[in-house]
Amino acid sequence: MSSYSSSISSTTLVIFFVLLLRGTEAQLSSDFYDHTCPDVYHIVRSVIKHAHKSDIRIYASLNRLHFHDCFVQGCDGSLLLDSSSTIVSEKNAIGNNNSLRGFPVVDAIKEALEHACPGVVSCADILALAAEASVELSGGPKWCVLLGRRDSTTANLTGAQNLPSPFDSLQALRSKFSAVGLNDTDLVALSGAHTFGRAQCGIFSYRLYNFSGTGQPDPTLNGDYRVQLQQNCPQNANFNRLNNLEPTMPDIFDYNYFLDIENNRGLLQSDQELLSAVDAVSTTAPIINSFASDQSTFFSNFAASMINMGNISPLTGDQGEIRKNCRVVNDS
Ligand code: HEM
Ligand SMILES: *[C@@H]1O[C@H](CO)[C@@H](O)[C@H](O)[C@H]1NC(C)=O
Ligand SMILES: *[C@@H]1O[C@H](CO)[C@@H](O)[C@H](O)[C@H]1NC(C)=O
Ligand SMILES: *[C@@H]1O[C@H](CO)[C@@H](O)[C@H](O)[C@H]1NC(C)=O
Ligand SMILES: *[C@@H]1O[C@H](CO)[C@@H](O)[C@H](O)[C@H]1NC(C)=O
Repeated sequence: MSSYSSSISSTTLVIFFVLLLRGTEAQLSSDFYDHTCPDVYHIVRSVIKHAHKSDIRIYASLNRLHFHDCFVQGCDGSLLLDSSSTIVSEKNAIGNNNSLRGFPVVDAIKEALEHACPGVVSCADILALAAEASVELSGGPKWCVLLGRRDSTTANLTGAQNLPSPFDSLQALRSKFSAVGLNDTDLVALSGAHTFGRAQCGIFSYRLYNFSGTGQPDPTLNGDYRVQLQQNCPQNANFNRLNNLEPTMPDIFDYNYFLDIENNRGLLQSDQELLSAVDAVSTTAPIINSFASDQSTFFSNFAASMINMGNISPLTGDQGEIRKNCRVVNDS
């Protein structure tokens, strides 16, 4: 009996210390702006809904910005800084230039928030809020966005050049995710964001015509789907011609991405590899199968993984600043 109760109290102690340690770390919370900017959710939503009226793709584009921000020195708005005498912008990185979009909408959100509650809401939090609202407004899951991030005064182009690439092997993708504390479940769930939005023909056309210099298409690509893709992306097409990432419901956030992968219809090499790479069998393939078998399993995991991604080394407390203009460091 006494060893039973002492084991309970040591467990309690361990839990206590884990909570204490976490308490001294960066803490984000969903009620962070409750008193200082109570309308923040409503303002973000109204700006992006307005933008969506003339740009059906904007929800996908905004969602992607949070990913490209968080993977480079944490979710700190570094992505949004333009080049200046002190900043080398991440926007010029290979995977970002001529690919990321939505920056003027972020500016419009910031402007509306500066009007309602000046100097309060960070640009990093704007990206987290816009990423959630975009998924929810596209028919996907909703989640409680954790807030309280502050904005960096630096950017890191080298970090941005090292973002996960559509040509990466599964091993490289897994190691880039694990380097920021995200595991295989996060990798598969977050890749499910490719259920909406567009990709440029130039990014994947090597899979249609000349895969790894073989002169043949990628053997993991479904033949019927390849023919469809070849029609929209002929060999002489402009690099920047657009193709839906997910053909069935291109602007709806659903689990069709996983059904596609099950049928060898993943658009990017990095999508199909999650099932078809040799080392997927013991890592990501079972997770693909589980999300393909049940949309609600995908949705709950996607929400959890977005929160995990949003927790990547934020600046908090008196670190960084609240930028007045997301493109420039204050007083510069
Ligand atoms: C696993 C590694 C990933 C790779 C290699 C990757 C790669 C890509 C590529 C190449 C494109 C098309 C870009 C273009 O053609 O200009 C794209 C688009 C997109 N990605 Fe990813 N991505 C990854 C993970 C993610 C994650 C984690 C998210 C969000 C949680 C995401 C959200 C999106 C969205 C929504 C689009 C469409 C954007 C638009 O239409 O503007 N991706 N991604
Ligand atoms: C980014 O794209 C523009 C064309 O829109 C090009 O002029 C510029 O050189 C590119 N920047 C880099 C760093 O590749
Ligand atoms: C920028 O990112 C690279 C790659 O992630 C990292 O090695 C480097 O230390 C970072 N630079 C700064 C100044 O933080
Ligand atoms: C990844 O981490 C989550 C907790 O964030 C956990 O529930 C899940 O089982 C982990 N997945 C793998 C493959 O380890
Ligand atoms: C395929 O690519 C390889 C290497 O890039 C090249 O040598 C070869 O000529 C290409 N084949 C065709 C049919 O275009």
